[in-house]
Amino acid sequence: MYCTKKINEDYTWIGCGSKKISIFEGMYPVPNGMSYNSYLLKDEKTVLFDTVDKIVGEQFLENLVYELKGKNIDYLVVSHMEPDHCSLIKEMVFRYPEMKIVCNAKTQTMIKQFFGEDYQSKSVLVGEGDALNTGRHTLRFYMAPMVHWPEVMVAYDETDKILFSADAFGVFGSLDGQLFDTQIEVSKWLGEARRYYTNIVGKYGTQVQMLLKKAAALDIKLICPLHGFIWTKCIPYIVEKYNKWSSYDACEKAVMIVYGSVYGHTENAAQILASKLVDKGVNNVVLYDVSMTHLSYIIADAYRCSHIAFVSPTYNNEIFTNMETVIYDMKAHNIQNHKVAFIENGSWAPNSGKKMKELVSQMKNMTVIEPMVTIKSALDEKGLDDIETLTDEIIKSM
Ligand SMILES: Cc1cc2nc3c(=O)[nH]c(=O)nc-3n(C[C@H](O)[C@H](O)[C@H](O)COP(=O)(O)O)c2cc1C
Ligand SMILES: [Fe+2]
Ligand SMILES: [Fe+2]
Repeated sequence: MYCTKKINEDYTWIGCGSKKISIFEGMYPVPNGMSYNSYLLKDEKTVLFDTVDKIVGEQFLENLVYELKGKNIDYLVVSHMEPDHCSLIKEMVFRYPEMKIVCNAKTQTMIKQFFGEDYQSKSVLVGEGDALNTGRHTLRFYMAPMVHWPEVMVAYDETDKILFSADAFGVFGSLDGQLFDTQIEVSKWLGEARRYYTNIVGKYGTQVQMLLKKAAALDIKLICPLHGFIWTKCIPYIVEKYNKWSSYDACEKAVMIVYGSVYGHTENAAQILASKLVDKGVNNVVLYDVSMTHLSYIIADAYRCSHIAFVSPTYNNEIFTNMETVIYDMKAHNIQNHKVAFIENGSWAPNSGKKMKELVSQMKNMTVIEPMVTIKSALDEKGLDDIETLTDEIIKSM
């Protein structure tokens, strides 16, 4: 059965989600499922804004057919070619042969890569600032390269003042019947909005800043992203968050301690560091075992916390593998501007501290807090003193 929602007089949400989806894009755990948004404009011309992932394709088609009420689709606006929104393009072309695909030139190349043909005769190519009139509405297109793919463009409805923001301003999680930010407690979703942003688009802060500048020049009443809920009342709130995240400005004076441990001794050191920090008044401390917490949560908190302590055993003369993955992923996500501390462990030739320092030094503007603590197998009185000193140095640097 169809399940759609009216946004206003002319716009309808025809998206869908599912709690059965547990991994998004083969990578990210989504314990609350995932939602995929698609929007339908019924003006003199009928416009579909993106499709959905084929995983929820059946529901989407039911929604679409119901809302079209026998009408044709005149335009399909393709914001970018990621299959979580585009897997049904071929199906749409097949079902609605009169339909034109509104996209930019880069998108057209990718349509060919994915579907074997570029539908050139069915395409309306648009570029920066181009407009499309649909009757009562005028849509204007702005390019947003790398927010999240190179060909991304957003659309702005000048009549209703709606920004179709592609993947920007999305969240992980499937909705529980609500669609607007006024119907939910936004602060409860902030963690998943952050984890979504930092992991999906976090690497491209500069490009996100460019999009925010373009958006600042528009009068926006609604932001309709491709995942999650529609932003209305909380637009200033989420734009401010995006500003912080995209400028890699850690929002909180906080210490994230990430550790790996085989037998528990390195974990013991990490817990003692956390405990000493809290005892000395730093309450904003989080502790993550790199083998127990998916790295997407660690990446998200790295954007939130001003300080990161890396605590790792030596592993085949290297960094503990899962810890190494976390640091590589931080580097890949352009994480920068942090104060960092290191604790290493090793039973015969501790070397993980040096290796972690080398890796972290490849990231921008990371300030090392000394001393680096070395443990040989299990913490002794000297190691305990060193952690005490490190705690004080971390606090001094806050
Ligand atoms: C697969 C493996 C490889 C290791 N490689 C090294 C090494 O190259 N150098 C070293 O000093 N210790 C090495 N160790 C020993 C651990 O680093 C050491 O026992 C450490 O104290 C473990 O801390 P934990 O109790 O937190 O697991 C290795 C241990 C394992 C399981
Ligand atoms: Fe995307
Ligand atoms: Fe997406």
